Amino acid sequence: MSGTALQAQGLEAGYGALQILFGIDLTVGQGEHVLVFGPNGAGKSTLIKALFGLVAPSAGQVTLAGRDVTGQAPERMVGQGMAYVPQVSNVFGTMSVQENLEIGGASLPVAQRNRRIEEMVTLFPVLGDRRKQAAGTLSGGERQMLALARALIPEPSVLLLDEPSAGVAPKIVEEIFLLVSGLRQTGVSVLMIEQNARQALPHVDRGYVLESGQVRMEDSAAALRDSAEIAELYLGG
Ligand SMILES: Nc1ncnc2c1ncn2[C@@H]1O[C@H](COP(=O)(O)OP(=O)(O)OP(=O)(O)O)[C@@H](O)[C@H]1O
Ligand SMILES: [Mg+2]
Repeated sequence: MSGTALQAQGLEAGYGALQILFGIDLTVGQGEHVLVFGPNGAGKSTLIKALFGLVAPSAGQVTLAGRDVTGQAPERMVGQGMAYVPQVSNVFGTMSVQENLEIGGASLPVAQRNRRIEEMVTLFPVLGDRRKQAAGTLSGGERQMLALARALIPEPSVLLLDEPSAGVAPKIVEEIFLLVSGLRQTGVSVLMIEQNARQALPHVDRGYVLESGQVRMEDSAAALRDSAEIAELYLGG
């Protein structure tokens, strides 16, 4: 690991008067894959939104490759190398697969955009077979792949994934995790939220347990898998 890709320090955020995050410290090293897990309502999606500028932090700092980006608008985050795949509504359902991919590359010169679309179709062959199909008619797994592909088109340095296994058939979940894990070759850093921690942990380097808007535990993926406490609380015994 040669440096820090993404860092949150003392990050606080919420919705109006409702505070959800209470001083989150989190680091993703360059090329590192990091998992955030914890119970429903812990603030995992809020954390990722605060990192990406969709929810304004009320305190603390977010840095991207050492540069302060705290509270910047999502478009600017994208311009600086961050990409975000939301937990829900992560594709435009009435638009075709091809159109969704084109939107992902909207900020790129046409030739580069088209090259990246072809690269994504090679990485996710199932999308190539369905270019003209409306994204809303894709299966859960195909849709997550489209959302991933779209986010990857601008060649982000940091990828934020909010529950990529949500709405995906169990036998496809492993495929999604393997695809994300395979992105290591590109050097992209990944911060992934997952309910399905048991299945996700083998594919990441480190993990954070988030509970009630605070980091409850932080360790290597192997140590978290071996922890009896984590197993009992979050991995189903
Ligand atoms: N737009 C909003 N306005 C008000 N409260 C919100 C809003 N979005 C989320 N919340 C609340 O913030 C808390 C944390 O929600 P968040 O979505 O971050 O949790 P989560 O850990 O991602 O949960 P899950 O595992 O169910 O996805 C919840 O109590 C939720 O009801
Ligand atoms: Mg969530």
